[in-house]
Amino acid sequence: MDKFVSRRNFVKSTGAAIAAASIYNISGAAHHSSATVKVALIGCGGRSNRDMPNFIKACELLGKKAEVVGLADAYQDRLDTAAQKYGVDKSKCFVGFQSYQQVLETDAEIVIMATPPNFRPTHLEAVIKSGKHAMIEKPVAVDAPGCRKVIEVGELAKKKGLAIVAGVQRRHDIRWLTNKAKIDEGAIGTILGGTVSWNGTVPWIWGRTQEMDDREYLTRNWLNWSEMSGDHITEQHVHNLDVANWFLGRHPESCVGFGGRARRQTGNQYDFFSLDLDYGDGVHIHSQCRQLSGCFNRVGEFFRGTEGQTFGDGKMTGKNVKIPEIKVESDDGSVQEMVELIRGIYNDKPLNEAKSIAESTATAIMGRYSAYTGKLVQWSDLMQNPKSHFYNLTAGSSPADFEAGNVTVPMENVVAVPGDGIAVRRKTS
Ligand SMILES: NC(=O)c1ccc[n+]([C@@H]2O[C@H](COP(=O)([O-])OP(=O)(O)OC[C@H]3O[C@@H](n4cnc5c(N)ncnc54)[C@H](O)[C@@H]3O)[C@@H](O)[C@H]2O)c1
Repeated sequence: MDKFVSRRNFVKSTGAAIAAASIYNISGAAHHSSATVKVALIGCGGRSNRDMPNFIKACELLGKKAEVVGLADAYQDRLDTAAQKYGVDKSKCFVGFQSYQQVLETDAEIVIMATPPNFRPTHLEAVIKSGKHAMIEKPVAVDAPGCRKVIEVGELAKKKGLAIVAGVQRRHDIRWLTNKAKIDEGAIGTILGGTVSWNGTVPWIWGRTQEMDDREYLTRNWLNWSEMSGDHITEQHVHNLDVANWFLGRHPESCVGFGGRARRQTGNQYDFFSLDLDYGDGVHIHSQCRQLSGCFNRVGEFFRGTEGQTFGDGKMTGKNVKIPEIKVESDDGSVQEMVELIRGIYNDKPLNEAKSIAESTATAIMGRYSAYTGKLVQWSDLMQNPKSHFYNLTAGSSPADFEAGNVTVPMENVVAVPGDGIAVRRKTS
């Protein structure tokens, strides 16, 4: 039986989730036939306020009910807010840097992970080893060993029949899905090159207070430390790099990049990056990302092919092609990715996006290393060649260091300076 219902037909036939229950029959194997989907959350911060409501909505769209059966966060204030919001009993709420292990003792079937990215490989491994399905926010690592770990855990998940869905919502958004399908049908011919960009402002800064130790300062202000976020090229621009890899059907072979810092007053990240990503066969993608206020902003992906081109807003020139009907329950890719996660599990066809998101994350990290050092960096340096300096390079304190409380803040406002062998760090203000 076809479990997919087009959005048009869905809207026509029902406006209410209650009615959807009679349309959708997503029950697969007996152990997944329950109408209630038990979910837990690790990291109860900003993004979780989108992810959990989106998950609940996705359950409704599939005629199911979500039950939040466990919460974990490093800090009590974040935990308390989420516990109140989702009505979770104190006995199922866990605090601290080991809370990700404790929450796995609950009977959750699916775990959403929305902590800073440096924790993701370790947390994902624990979730998959515990036999639970995973929804992982992007990016999924901050260094090459982390990316390789996620790929390895992805293989383990396949063996165990577990899902790993990543928070790169463009992959489940009707506009991007349509462009991708048209490109695959030859609408713009062969892709020759393109530009992907995320140029915006600094999202937020969490200032240090006297009560904060180094560990708390780093985890609260993580968005501004490259050891925690992978720098904004990884944390934010990964969305656009992921589209480049997806539309081209491969990752880049090498990268020459540069970047710098002019305005930031916290952490140790650059303000901007510009990369030439070489995808082989003469195909180059220019990537640019910037977090600076008062400048021209643009977020999107542009591809030029032999017969036409795509623009970032879903528009396209080129040949008219016929594509198969694309069926989604929600126009919001962040909801639709949850729908695909749940449907895959209940149809016993768990979606596994570990490799693609690990490769997109590695693409960003390759760019960061090239910009920080001024070197040409190859894909093999990160993913295949143990002799390369970058292969085993890890970023800052490990998740185990955070668990042990053995964390030191790197020198603030000291950034990588390229051109001197491997990047040295120099003060900027
Ligand atoms: N898909 C998207 O469009 C999108 C948008 C925003 C953020 N994100 C991603 O979501 C993730 C979280 O970002 P955010 O904006 O919610 O950050 P945040 O700081 O608001 O939330 C992170 C939460 O994790 C907690 N935490 C930190 N370390 C922890 C640990 N070791 N164990 C348990 N809890 C821990 C923090 O206390 C905090 O509550 C990041 O990877 C970010 O890149 C994705």
